[in-house]
Amino acid sequence: MLLRVAVVQFAPRFADPQRNLATILSLLDWAQPAHIVVLPELATTGYFFQSRDEVAAYAEPLDGPTLERLHREACWRGQLLILGFAERHGDRLYNSAALLLPEPNERRVYRKTHLFYKEKLCFDPGDTGFFVVHYPRWDVRIGTMICYDWRFPEAARTLALQGADLIACPANLVTDAWRMVMPVRALENKVYLALANRTGSEERNGEQLTFRGESAIYSYTGATLCRAGADDTTVLIAEIEPTHTRNKAFDPLDDIFADRRPEHYRL
Ligand code: ACM
Repeated sequence: MLLRVAVVQFAPRFADPQRNLATILSLLDWAQPAHIVVLPELATTGYFFQSRDEVAAYAEPLDGPTLERLHREACWRGQLLILGFAERHGDRLYNSAALLLPEPNERRVYRKTHLFYKEKLCFDPGDTGFFVVHYPRWDVRIGTMICYDWRFPEAARTLALQGADLIACPANLVTDAWRMVMPVRALENKVYLALANRTGSEERNGEQLTFRGESAIYSYTGATLCRAGADDTTVLIAEIEPTHTRNKAFDPLDDIFADRRPEHYRL
């Protein structure tokens, strides 16, 4: 089944969850034709936290009011939403992505495995590991990784080995090498990859981070299906055919999964 995937790019405002929720809701109107919508990392709170106390002031559980509201939207709109948020789970704080399926009570969370820079001071390392969600109504298998996880080829590979057709990557990218690497993650695993990056900048305690935009959707060939500008607030939509990722052969004799030699790999 052909599916439409959207990536939503905008500049969340730091420590202003109400405004960010309003922005997300208005951008979802633009994304209405899409089946699957991917939003940036920490989309509801902004990014540049300086301490655990700051995160604790804005974090909410997976069944907190913002995610409840967005899950109602997902059900009402018939869309599967994936977005980054600051998660409180008991006394733990995670940089997480919620997967909100268009079914009541169908909600999953991925907790960022590889924390980046000052996230290490503010969040606990994720404990969910990488997993794939199958949504039978559309026969699509979705894996999630968050931003800096891209630096570790094991992340995308683990998702692909679990059968992901599409990797959703909420991001707040502040460096540049991903432009070269992200399409390769798609090609080397023969999966689609939807990268939702944010724009704008945040200055905290005299240090400024500038987010790179250029959200994109990559085909399993590594080709760019669509790409946003560096500063646009925008929604991009591309069509994907999930079943095309499942045969990992690229000619009659060569198959990128069947030809693997894990006994010779050191991981
Ligand atoms: C990042 O992981 N937000 C760069």
